[in-house]
Amino acid sequence: MTPVVEQPTARPVTPLGILAMQLESIVQAVNEQPDLSSELKAKLNFAWRLAAGLDPYLEECTTGESPALAALAKKTAVEAWTQRFNEGATVRQLEQEMLSGHVEGQTLKMFIHMTKAKRVLEIGMFTGYSALAIAEALPSDGEVVACEVDPYAAEFGKSIFRESPHGSKIRVELGPALSTLDKLAAAGESFDFVFIDADKKEYVQYFQALLDKNLLIPEGFICVDNTLLQGQVYLSVGDRTVNGEAIAEFNRVVAAEKRVEQVLLPLRDGLTIIRRLPV
Ligand SMILES: C[S@@+](CC[C@H](N)C(=O)[O-])C[C@H]1O[C@@H](n2cnc3c(N)ncnc32)[C@H](O)[C@@H]1O
Repeated sequence: MTPVVEQPTARPVTPLGILAMQLESIVQAVNEQPDLSSELKAKLNFAWRLAAGLDPYLEECTTGESPALAALAKKTAVEAWTQRFNEGATVRQLEQEMLSGHVEGQTLKMFIHMTKAKRVLEIGMFTGYSALAIAEALPSDGEVVACEVDPYAAEFGKSIFRESPHGSKIRVELGPALSTLDKLAAAGESFDFVFIDADKKEYVQYFQALLDKNLLIPEGFICVDNTLLQGQVYLSVGDRTVNGEAIAEFNRVVAAEKRVEQVLLPLRDGLTIIRRLPV
């Protein structure tokens, strides 16, 4: 008999997911209070269903993942990331929640189709979900250069790319992203589209390097993940972690930058779309 592999459940890491979890626990607590009005209970229950139902509905209405992306997500979910980290292996603090996933992956694919980008840079590859999603949308002569500092995650992704007909469009650059950006700029490489999703504390430096070193072409696009950072950017300063403060600072820097225009979309944990203005 084949053993059943339990898929660990991901903890909520988006403002909406956290809100739904909070409302669920409030609903449970309130339902145990006989003195509270049934009208209040019904209103809270409605608020919980409104929050909890949105993500599953977005999934339902979005084109399904390719078999390769579905397999990658599943393999990432069952990997014992915490155990590896605790064992002191080469793996840094990685977790399945880092993976962008179905709806965001499909959003990136649509952006690639819409912009007709051919050269894409990804800063923060993890196990390769977004890199492979982007590669699937690129023409056969397109390329994704994916930066990843963790050798285990990079190998994990590469082994999956080898199984996909689109995997040959992905070039993995192992090492700290800022050094890789210097190397790419020195080699005269430039990109139509960049996805930033690595160390939140370095986001400002990635952004400035892309513009200052002309790694992003004029009228090229940058998509930046986690720009809501679980809502910390709009909650009080006291509610922010180091990453929350770093993202709040990043959002201020982008808003003040004259070389770009931008919009922050409330997709998952926040996705900012930045367009470099023509020179
Ligand atoms: C949020 S995950 C990326 C998720 C991936 N884009 C996806 O959609 O599945 C962030 C990744 O950035 C990597 N990372 C963190 N700091 C980095 C750095 N300085 N240079 C390159 N990669 C870095 C981490 O090892 C991790 O794998």
